Amino acid sequence: MPPPADIPVLRMEGVRKRFRAADGRDVEILRGIDLTLPRGAYAVVTGPSGSGKTTFLMVAGLLLPPDAGTFRFDGRDVTALPDRARTDLRKTAVGTVFQKFCLIPGRSALANVELRFRYLSDPPADIRARSLAALDRVGLADKTRQPARLLSAGEMQRVAIARAIVHPPTLLLADEPTGNLDPASAARIMDLFAALNRAGTTLLLVTHHPAWTAPASALRLTLANGLLSPTPTL
Ligand SMILES: Nc1ncnc2c1ncn2[C@@H]1O[C@H](COP(=O)(O)OP(=O)(O)OP(=O)(O)O)[C@@H](O)[C@H]1O
Ligand SMILES: [Mg+2]
Repeated sequence: MPPPADIPVLRMEGVRKRFRAADGRDVEILRGIDLTLPRGAYAVVTGPSGSGKTTFLMVAGLLLPPDAGTFRFDGRDVTALPDRARTDLRKTAVGTVFQKFCLIPGRSALANVELRFRYLSDPPADIRARSLAALDRVGLADKTRQPARLLSAGEMQRVAIARAIVHPPTLLLADEPTGNLDPASAARIMDLFAALNRAGTTLLLVTHHPAWTAPASALRLTLANGLLSPTPTL
């Protein structure tokens, strides 16, 4: 049974994350993140390079465990979930567009999208049809057989987007998803995200261009000094 609509998809309180730097010292990148994302929210995060936006998305997307604080995902306490259980939850509930795409270079665009289903049990014919439809939605219907290594950066980015949306996630995370796209392709992707959001997907986006890319109603956040706060309006 799906969780009730009034349970937030994501609820973080005082979430912290640190890394061991090359010189052996611990550096705290996230220093107390508080964020509640209601179901169906559209949130946009900006912030300086190196401020921890990707790290924050990794924690929100259940790829990295927080070091401190509390984190509820879809009503479930995932703060200290064992790796295996966190991975299980992630593969059904989270779609991620990675800043570095994370495609398999020697596999086709289609095979890369189909990888989304690797640990799920959907019927193969269904997987093929849905993957082709997702590639069509990002404007790559003519590149489905092309190995990922022979795609342009913008095409790779769109394969990564197709892979993230092909199995509609509870939470869609996208890290600079239009960073390599020309204005027309970027606008098409943002229209696609808006349509997914209208259909109920909760969206958390990192972008340097929040003003023209996100709907006016989006929740705008800035990450700086390890803290997330509402972006001041100009
Ligand atoms: N696994 C890691 N080990 C050590 N340091 C890390 C690790 N991952 C990230 N960092 C450091 O954490 C800081 C934040 O990195 P992050 O990638 O989250 O920044 P960002 O805001 O996404 O930057 P950009 O806008 O350039 O993508 C950086 O200084 C980075 O070097
Ligand atoms: Mg980043």
